[in-house]
Amino acid sequence: MGEVGVQVIERVLPALRRDKQIDLVVAQAENVSEGKGITLQDFQRLRKTGVDFCTGGNWSLHREDITQAMNDPAQPIIRPANYPEGTPGLGWKYAETSKGRVLVVSLLGHIVGKDADKPIDNPLQVIDSILESQKDVERAATIVNFHGDFSSEKVVIGHFLDGRASLVVGDHWHVPTADARILPGGTAHQTDVGMCGILDASLGVSYSSVIPRWRDSKQTRNVLETVGLRQFNALLVRANDSGLADATEPIRQVF
Ligand SMILES: [Fe+2]
Repeated sequence: MGEVGVQVIERVLPALRRDKQIDLVVAQAENVSEGKGITLQDFQRLRKTGVDFCTGGNWSLHREDITQAMNDPAQPIIRPANYPEGTPGLGWKYAETSKGRVLVVSLLGHIVGKDADKPIDNPLQVIDSILESQKDVERAATIVNFHGDFSSEKVVIGHFLDGRASLVVGDHWHVPTADARILPGGTAHQTDVGMCGILDASLGVSYSSVIPRWRDSKQTRNVLETVGLRQFNALLVRANDSGLADATEPIRQVF
């Protein structure tokens, strides 16, 4: 979330990557540039700090200069796969790792805040058809990032894909849930992975810009907080030879 989010990743990720011998780092990157979308420059900055692949959400297409990278299968950034046909960008791509190719898919929940009125395709039908189309492609793992508002949706997609993906992880809340586990069929799941950025704020936005709007119906603009404690949240997953998960470890650092 915002500049602080990038700084948090720059501080935490390089050592974490080394210590845990991580093969692939995926970041949901729709709130990176001033909280809305991601610029090409910030994408390159994240890549430099050890983020291998960026998934998306309701702000993915906010900035035009990232569109070309989203369209390019070789550039590791995607937007939700269940946007209607004709939407710029791609919703799934392969990430290359030393252990083999990894399919990464981004999906948007049916109801996401103010974007609920925008048309999206059914996420369950879309992921079914992506997995069907890729069923003969050899790969080390399959990762599905589900960007949604409802816990029920985020839990159901985990069950729906259990045994068919290495990891199904939700986000959009900016608050990590305490339910990370491996589902019965071998898929790692967490309802919401949380965020990287400022801790002392409303999901990254300053309290002083939010509370007058809420309490007194004043028209205020969201201002990103820059002062206070910071947080790094992530989910570490180990995939086995059959492309399912055999260990998960939520990671949370506050400093
Ligand atoms: Fe979002």
